[in-house]
Amino acid sequence: MAEFTLPANSKIGTGKTWPAPPAAQRPRRFRVYRWNPEDGKNPVMDTYTVDLADCAPMVLDALLKIKNEIDTTLTFRRSCREGVCGSCAMNIDGVNTLACITAIGDIKGDVRIYPLPHMPVVKDLVPDLTHIYAQYQSIQPWLQSDSPPPPDRERPQSIDERAKLDGLWECILCFCCTGACPSWWWSGERYLGPAVLLQAYRWLADSRDEKTGERLDLLEDPFRLYRCHTIMNCTRTCPKGLNPGKAIAEIKKLIVLRR
Ligand code: SF4
Ligand code: SF4
Ligand code: FES
Repeated sequence: MAEFTLPANSKIGTGKTWPAPPAAQRPRRFRVYRWNPEDGKNPVMDTYTVDLADCAPMVLDALLKIKNEIDTTLTFRRSCREGVCGSCAMNIDGVNTLACITAIGDIKGDVRIYPLPHMPVVKDLVPDLTHIYAQYQSIQPWLQSDSPPPPDRERPQSIDERAKLDGLWECILCFCCTGACPSWWWSGERYLGPAVLLQAYRWLADSRDEKTGERLDLLEDPFRLYRCHTIMNCTRTCPKGLNPGKAIAEIKKLIVLRR
């Protein structure tokens, strides 16, 4: 296998190369970003070799194998292992995606794994989502209605009204899209980014919600909404096949139509 080299101007060092398992039948190298806030050092890329003949097929399976059998200090988030919790979002082979639904077999050569880009790192592959969750909270992601609900059942919705939520409710808040958005990279302090805006549209599209005007007032802002320049990286990278770029366009349309 060819030696792994980092770009000459990289601030990331070449880390430790862990010994390959003896008599591995299908050895595969994983280059994994490591950073420990407690040791005062720059990040490094550690190299682990996993025998794919003795490993389940997904990238998350390999990370778990590394943590369980090679290096217990490797830190990453995961929970459901089936693409529904959003915890294992990371940058794999240059793409923001979910480790648990990314097949190792679909990646050529060494498997390069970094945390989601342009976010502060807590440790290794764990991004700090504090700011994104504050942005999420700011759009008030819950049903708001002044009308009292029926006394004996849920608030009714027609089949067509319910269908308007398809493509929105499936969002698992993994933030792969936000981490891929150049506008959020440069203006993320004020621009809400694709995941939060898709969620904002989810409530605007809900026939039971009665705060459309207030929600649009909150969004109509040169930074919060209009920093989106329709580059569509968000839609390209969403591991759930959703279209945050379209949701953002729908919000802009609602703002134009109410004038
Ligand atoms: S379409 Fe908008 S939100 Fe999506 S990546 Fe482009 S600028 Fe970001
Ligand atoms: S829109 Fe897709 S990429 Fe963005 S947070 Fe939701 S599921 Fe993740
Ligand atoms: S572990 Fe839940 S989405 Fe990957």
